This record gives sequence, structure tokens and C-alpha cells, in this order.
Amino acid sequence: MYGAGKLESRNIREYEMAARHARDCDRADLIDCLLEMAEVEWEHELYFRSRVREHFLGRRLPLWPQPPPKEMIRISLEREPVGSVDTNNQDGRVVAEPVTW
Ligand SMILES: [Fe+2]
Repeated sequence: MYGAGKLESRNIREYEMAARHARDCDRADLIDCLLEMAEVEWEHELYFRSRVREHFLGRRLPLWPQPPPKEMIRISLEREPVGSVDTNNQDGRVVAEPVTW
């Protein structure tokens, strides 16, 4: 459960980044489905996080960073300027507004 939750957390960010790349390469047709996948992964992360917290051993473990509220997935993309993804960085960091979680 712990590993799955941590993996789902990473999946959220990967779908968000894929949506940014779609926006920046004029594939707006892909953005909504990629954001929808990020939202699905957000639900999965919440499920696994809650399962870990319910377990007596899980309550003793430090958890991975908690994602921002689900609605922020779309809001953060809307707020960023087009072309804010630095494609020269291997992790595709956002130049204008660093991801903080
Ligand atoms: Fe998932």
C-alpha cells in the first residue's frame, strides 16, 4: 500500500507534466484527457494514503508529500504561461512557477 501510494503520487505529476507538454506543442486536444488521468491518479493516491494511515505500522511511517487539492490540477495549468515547461531539463521542470510538492 505504501509503495503504491508513493507511485500514484508520482503518476499525478507525470500526467500534469504531460498535459503541459501537450499544451506547449499545440496538442490541446490531449490536455483534457491527460488532466483527467491526473485526477484519477489523485483519487488513487488518496485511497492508498488512507489505507496506510489506517494500518498500525503505517501510522508510524513518514509519508510522501501530500498532493495539493485535486482542483489545483487544472487551476495550476490554467495559471501558467504557455511555454513554461523547460524542455532542456530532464524532469521537465516548470520555469515560471516551480512545483512545490
Ligand atoms: Fe493509478
